[in-house]
Amino acid sequence: MNLQAPAEATALRAACQALRVALGRPGGLCVLTGAGMSAESGIATFRDALTGLWARFDPMLLASEAGYRDDPQRGWDWYAERRAGVRAAQPNAGHLALAAFARRHPGVLALVTQNVDDLHQRAGNADAIRLHGDILQDRWLDGCRHGPACHPDEAQPGRPPRCPRPGCGNLLRPGVVWFGEELPAQALDAARQAAERCAVMLVVGTSGAVWPAAGLAGLARRAGAAVILLNPHASEIDAEARLHLRGTAAGLLPALLDAL
Ligand code: OAD
Repeated sequence: MNLQAPAEATALRAACQALRVALGRPGGLCVLTGAGMSAESGIATFRDALTGLWARFDPMLLASEAGYRDDPQRGWDWYAERRAGVRAAQPNAGHLALAAFARRHPGVLALVTQNVDDLHQRAGNADAIRLHGDILQDRWLDGCRHGPACHPDEAQPGRPPRCPRPGCGNLLRPGVVWFGEELPAQALDAARQAAERCAVMLVVGTSGAVWPAAGLAGLARRAGAAVILLNPHASEIDAEARLHLRGTAAGLLPALLDAL
């Protein structure tokens, strides 16, 4: 006998009801996504036991400036493999449900993502706010000492590619935010405004372990929003939530959004 099912159906109905309130307001729904959003597209999360990237790789070597400087080729090659995985992945039913919702209700959804893949954008949410950068972009590791910096496209091929100017040698790095680095200020400001303004914040597939992104749920709650978490497992921000939807992004987002 499945004792969970009635409780899950009740939570889903309550979430739908909360979302109806958000529909009448510009920016009424803020959705914050994390790595679990893209898990069913075949992109590994970071902290899931066994399958998460940080269960298999050392984040201080692969997601910090010091780790990259220590061995740029190791860092470049690791991100090259992840980039190939992102390019091969397709948006899942959850990404598509969010994009279809945004098309049906222009101006209602503010989508904030911690993900560095481009699956929200490819699904149709071109204006998703990216807190942790874009893995498919390159940028220079250092500022240029020789005047205006070259465009990353001009870099000499290599692992990593280098600046072609004689005596420069500046290296490319992926355009993601590493541990110890600031988030892009404009994106963070926009995300905070969206959190403070919304009637409902739906948090999908994040462990809530990384700040300041994890603080957005509390910000929304304190500003009066109903916070709804969608995650198959517990997270570090469960206490912020009025409702928990226990399930996966591709499984539950269509059930939640398609009828609205
Ligand atoms: P985590 O790997 O920390 O958490 C992923 C969450 O997704 C967990 O809570 C899982 O339970 C949940 N999850 C797994 N599969 C799911 C599914 N199919 N549907 C819904 N949820 C699912 O990922 P984040 O919270 O995104 O930083 O991690 C935050 C940041 O830490 C990342 O942005 C990344 C990392 O270091 C950068 O890339 C800069």
